[in-house]
Amino acid sequence: MQRRWLTLPVTGLALLIVLTTLSAQEASEEPQKSLLPEAYPPGELGTIVKLGEEIVARTHEHPLSKQYIGNKLNCTSCHLENGTNPQAASFLGVASAYPAWSPREKRVITLEDRVLNCFMRSQNGIRPPLGSKVSVAITAYITWLSSGSEIKMNHQKPLGPRHVQPLSLQAELAEERRGAKLYAARCADCHDASGAGTSEGPPVWGTDSYNDGAGLSRNDKLAAWLKVAMPPGETDLTEQEALDIAAYVNSHSRPHFILEEHLPPVEQRGVYDWQPAAAPAK
Ligand code: HEC
Ligand code: HEC
Repeated sequence: MQRRWLTLPVTGLALLIVLTTLSAQEASEEPQKSLLPEAYPPGELGTIVKLGEEIVARTHEHPLSKQYIGNKLNCTSCHLENGTNPQAASFLGVASAYPAWSPREKRVITLEDRVLNCFMRSQNGIRPPLGSKVSVAITAYITWLSSGSEIKMNHQKPLGPRHVQPLSLQAELAEERRGAKLYAARCADCHDASGAGTSEGPPVWGTDSYNDGAGLSRNDKLAAWLKVAMPPGETDLTEQEALDIAAYVNSHSRPHFILEEHLPPVEQRGVYDWQPAAAPAK
């Protein structure tokens, strides 16, 4: 009787240890890159996915997107490693959250809408027409990066399953003066003391950076992103440091966002102008 009383929990505990070790091993052995789809889709779809990948990497220079960009940033400037970094505004799994409720627009938006919104705000540019090639290509690329993710439309926010986690510290606790010192020590080498950027890093304030309608123009959002994204390869800022630096960066001037100035002419806000190849008119 006493024996049984003893062995049961012991066996249970041993089993638990074996199980946790196993799952820990599985987790650590699973390389993060396995989150990526193995191959491009065949045919024209694969071509469009690759095109989207190129645009995300060189947005302010790419011939299909540069006309819609108003700064020196690319999508990958914030969606690190072309959106494949699992933490820094990851694109992995994002398509599974859409259509999603957007409190800002007060309506349900599609993934394509969400992509186009980043053009107006984070890229300080003009919203490309719905259905345009640039829009479809980027959306196809992000959807491809979501291969295998279970559809779970987000009814609260237009954000995917790996979105940047908010900090636990209140944004009001930020102190610009401390942030200035930290910026000089940890950021200025790449982003310059003037914030205008160097060959090692893009502009973080001024006319060539994101405008004040962008998510990162809010100190809490910037701090949460910095915590998982900067400095590249050594993301060791504490929450307090990230907040102080965010307040310092955002204390400088940047373009002011006025929605009307970022919309294309009415007739270009939604298009269907891809001609089917020699299809008979119906
Ligand atoms: C200045 C930084 C910045 C730039 C440049 C930028 N974005 Fe974003 N974007 C963000 C942030 C921050 C979020 C919110 C992400 C989060 O909370 O995880 C976001 C969100 C998104 C989302 C929604 C993600 C989700 O989890 O649902 C999409 C899609 C997106 N961006 C696409 C783009 C595309 C496409 C480009 C280039 C045309 C771009 N962004 C350029 C900062 C940026
Ligand atoms: C070693 C160089 C380096 C350091 C140090 C560094 N960054 Fe960056 N930063 C980059 C690069 C490169 C990118 C763009 C990522 C890409 O294109 O892959 C970037 C992107 C950014 C962005 C988003 C795009 C933009 O320009 O608005 C912000 C904001 C930013 N960094 C802020 C900071 C802050 C604040 C620090 C200090 C805590 C910092 N960075 C430290 C290189 C650096």
